[in-house]
Amino acid sequence: MEKSKKYLILTYGCQMNVHESEKLAGILESNGYTHCTDATNADIVVFNTCAIRENAEEKIFGNIGELKNIKLAKPDMIIAVGGCMSQQKNYADEIMQKYPYVDIVFGTHNLADFDNFLKKRISTGKKVSEITEDETIALRDQMLISRTSGVNAWVNIMYGCNNFCTYCIVPYVRGREVSRPEQDILNEVKKLLSEGYKQITLLGQNVNSYKGIDENGNTVSFAKLLSDVDGFDGKYRVRFMTSHPKDLSSETIDVIAKSKHICHGIHLPVQSGSDKILKTMNRHYDIERYKKVVNEIREKIPDSELTTDIIVGFPGETEEDFEKTLEVMRFAKYMQIFGFNYSKRKGTPAEVMPNQVDYKTKQERLSRLLNLKNEIIYKKTAEMLGKTYEVLVESYDENKDLLFGSLDSGKTISFKGPKNCVGEFLNVRVKEVRKSVIYGEIADDLETLNLTEKTFKQPIQVSILPKDGSGMKILRQNKENKRLEDNEKSKAKNK
Ligand code: 5AD
Ligand code: SF4
Repeated sequence: MEKSKKYLILTYGCQMNVHESEKLAGILESNGYTHCTDATNADIVVFNTCAIRENAEEKIFGNIGELKNIKLAKPDMIIAVGGCMSQQKNYADEIMQKYPYVDIVFGTHNLADFDNFLKKRISTGKKVSEITEDETIALRDQMLISRTSGVNAWVNIMYGCNNFCTYCIVPYVRGREVSRPEQDILNEVKKLLSEGYKQITLLGQNVNSYKGIDENGNTVSFAKLLSDVDGFDGKYRVRFMTSHPKDLSSETIDVIAKSKHICHGIHLPVQSGSDKILKTMNRHYDIERYKKVVNEIREKIPDSELTTDIIVGFPGETEEDFEKTLEVMRFAKYMQIFGFNYSKRKGTPAEVMPNQVDYKTKQERLSRLLNLKNEIIYKKTAEMLGKTYEVLVESYDENKDLLFGSLDSGKTISFKGPKNCVGEFLNVRVKEVRKSVIYGEIADDLETLNLTEKTFKQPIQVSILPKDGSGMKILRQNKENKRLEDNEKSKAKNK
């Protein structure tokens, strides 16, 4: 029997990329490939790249470099590089030149064409490098999706971003905003719920500016879409990301407050606490507006929890500006904060702004931000002790014999219980708190619940070389086999 061909996808960056890798996996599986967990076993390796910060790119280039020796030992292995990094100006050529063993380079807009690129590479043996600027083809997304995000299903509602925050590469690599028609989204959500998924996460770079059309051609706002996604029967959760504070409307907050299924954990990136910096970032809000939105959320959704993104060391940021960022953190009492050092991105306005902040100052500010973040989160977490929360059970760890689940706020909790709780909503009491980590115990009587074992494909853990250290041995063996094979071939030819 012919050995099945194997694929490995290495995913970098945000949830959008995680979901797009599920689409790439769908294409590969429809071509007869099955997944594997390291490159020594793979017939094709796909890099789904990110360009948001310099360190993401450095890591990806390093990883593509690591494949050189594997490709030497396995010359038939196909290497493809797609996603945000490839979409940047001149990057496709640079990748092909620097890494001549890469076979396919494709951009963010031609993900659906990957099937053609792969077939072309296999049938002609020639390299394929195609980057398009056509944003509308993102809508051609009725493709197979191989979902591996457990109980959660990602659903794209829109692509691209029109905001042009001055630090951000996204509008350049993801193009202008294009919204999917509402009915396509609702059909997808309905199907996912009927398949048993328990959480739907709506994805877009700036979901609040969703502007779709309904079946009669009328415009549909994000608030209307959310309310319609909330309208299905059964028990499920809805999350969405990412919100822009300038566009999060009162109407949307009302829909969340009245909804049955929409989670009260909201990601609301503030980026900076200084009006001066927000202005040069081109964020179109000031801290007064941000606080007004936070207060409205608190008033209408009393058990809401906020999370945020913050950039430190943006050009021109003084100590005084940074202290204002610490101030907004104390005000919003975030449940989670993703803090980043500002990273220069080629072609963005901030790249050439005066008064760039030196690395040492950025590091020092980031570490102060992390200290305050911990202080806020530890305090909030300590207050959870003894309380009972509804938890969606997401996975079971065999080695630790523990269940992992998430609260409505998005916070993770672990607790003992049988494996068939995965996919269930349970009440869990917080019985132990260690810094920001919480442990619980099931507060329901499991006997009265009709638990059935459900299967959800969990995220696949991958690496370039096998985790057990056997990688180099396999490679040496492959290289030796290839040498013997070539010898045989040349002997046969000379006969
Ligand atoms: N440097 C640092 N952080 C950035 N982000 C976006 N661009 C940059 C950059 N050039 C951060 C923002 C955004 C998150 C996804 O990444 O905080 O919300
Ligand atoms: Fe980047 Fe701003 Fe668009 Fe978010 S809203 S993707 S930070 S440009």
